[in-house]
Amino acid sequence: MLLMKGDVVAEDILSKVKKTIEEKKLSLKLTAILVGNDEASKIYVSSKKKDCEKCGIASEVIHLSEKTTEKELLDTIEKLNNDDSVTGILCQLPLPPHLNEDKVIDSISYKKDADCFHPYNVGKLFIGNPIVEPCTPKGVIKMLEYYNIELSGKNAVVIGRSNIVGKPASIMLLQKNATVTICHSKTKNISEITKQADIIVIAVGKPHFLKADMVKNGCVVVDVGIHRIEDKTLEKGYKIIGDADFEEISKKASAITPVPGGVGIMTRAILMQNILTLGLTYQGKN
Ligand code: GUN
Repeated sequence: MLLMKGDVVAEDILSKVKKTIEEKKLSLKLTAILVGNDEASKIYVSSKKKDCEKCGIASEVIHLSEKTTEKELLDTIEKLNNDDSVTGILCQLPLPPHLNEDKVIDSISYKKDADCFHPYNVGKLFIGNPIVEPCTPKGVIKMLEYYNIELSGKNAVVIGRSNIVGKPASIMLLQKNATVTICHSKTKNISEITKQADIIVIAVGKPHFLKADMVKNGCVVVDVGIHRIEDKTLEKGYKIIGDADFEEISKKASAITPVPGGVGIMTRAILMQNILTLGLTYQGKN
């Protein structure tokens, strides 16, 4: 059984990004907007800032209050769109419920859209001519390629249909000539579908949703889920687990990503790659 760890793949990407920035003497900057006090979001944003430092990308976090109005947030984004020193922008999701995520995503210039969430960039991805690609699904594809998992002609099942992971992951697998099925909360007899899968990408946000009896022998499983579960038997009082039951599935799978240590770190590495790509494509051309 092949354990598909993300750290080696991510390091490889980060060092290439750093090298290109140095060689081309690029001056790139990410501005991340954080609205409110979601603890997980705070950790994600500070990790992204650290990755920028590693790669030689300047970074700044604009931390807005939970009560920020839509106008204040859109005005902030507009300023960043017009600031030539800022080459990448992201607004950490989820936003507080009074803010319209679609409107906010649309307002970020597609030329600075580090997440690849803007409809223009999503459209480019959909027609198979992307400029940047969404970080988590691109991380999934990179990981599969790094570990030499054949995708062409394979049955790939994506569990989850979010705009951030499930939908783009399915398009990207299709682009690699996989035969793709998307399962979601309304799918009937989900195990009948997952048992046919050569490759399963799971991003449902439910701890241990995918069980060993739902997969066939030799399948490849990429687990995008990440959950902190209370466990009083451990010194730290919790453990981190994914959407797939790693312990049991790893006895049947030919390859699987661990959680933690799998896809998570890849998402951040692709973000750095996207900031570089946006800089190379648009800097000085706004
Ligand atoms: N929230 C969860 N994942 C992401 C991500 O990749 N980008 C942003 N901006 N917010 C997120």
